[in-house]
Amino acid sequence: MTAKKHKRPADGSPSPFVMACLAHKSLTASGLALDLACGYGRHTRKLGSMGFSAVSGDLSMDCLGVTRRGPAPAFCVCLDARAELPFTDRAFRLVLIVHYVDKGLLARAARVIAPGGFLIYESYGGQGENWRSLPAHGEVENELSGEFSVIRKCTRSVGPKDGPRANVKLFARKNSPQTAVNALLGRAGDGMPLSHSYAGPHQIILPGKG
Ligand SMILES: C[S@@+](CC[C@H](N)C(=O)[O-])C[C@H]1O[C@@H](n2cnc3c(N)ncnc32)[C@H](O)[C@@H]1O
Repeated sequence: MTAKKHKRPADGSPSPFVMACLAHKSLTASGLALDLACGYGRHTRKLGSMGFSAVSGDLSMDCLGVTRRGPAPAFCVCLDARAELPFTDRAFRLVLIVHYVDKGLLARAARVIAPGGFLIYESYGGQGENWRSLPAHGEVENELSGEFSVIRKCTRSVGPKDGPRANVKLFARKNSPQTAVNALLGRAGDGMPLSHSYAGPHQIILPGKG
């Protein structure tokens, strides 16, 4: 399987949406980050310079050849993102996908994100006939099947007649077991109980000190 040749953009600067997500206060730059469909590595370079251990995946050996010669070390993996990704479950603290779209891709990416880890996704814009392969409204959220909390999302309708497809930019965090327990207890995001009142016979003992 060979990749369609992707023209190297003159401007190799990262996407502004990605830059804004990477600056978010909850995201600390450590651990493994996957730049999936990395192209010529503009985001891989950014991830490496921030302190992530970057892994770059692409179908094109040409792209990977350029990406691996970047200033920050990156592990390059030739892969087909239309199939199951060749990584273990929960391997990455961050998965970044920019300007690559495929049905079921986000569900495949979700599997390799650690609980508490992040997903940054930006579809392409939908110029010309490109809109036809963009996700339908709500499709992206469905693929993530409630496993993620959305931090930031921008969608724009594209295509003729009511814009049946969506240009999507999404920054989301995979729920951790603690998030699930908080929801169960009706706790606020900072972990403080909303109420101390005794509500029934059940007792839930949280892990931790004491
Ligand atoms: C438009 S480029 C985006 C590159 C990069 N994410 C960026 O924002 O600069 C799309 C990339 O997807 C890669 N690609 C296309 N089909 C793929 C597949 N099935 N699996 C993995 N990568 C693929 C192409 O080789 C190309 O590098």
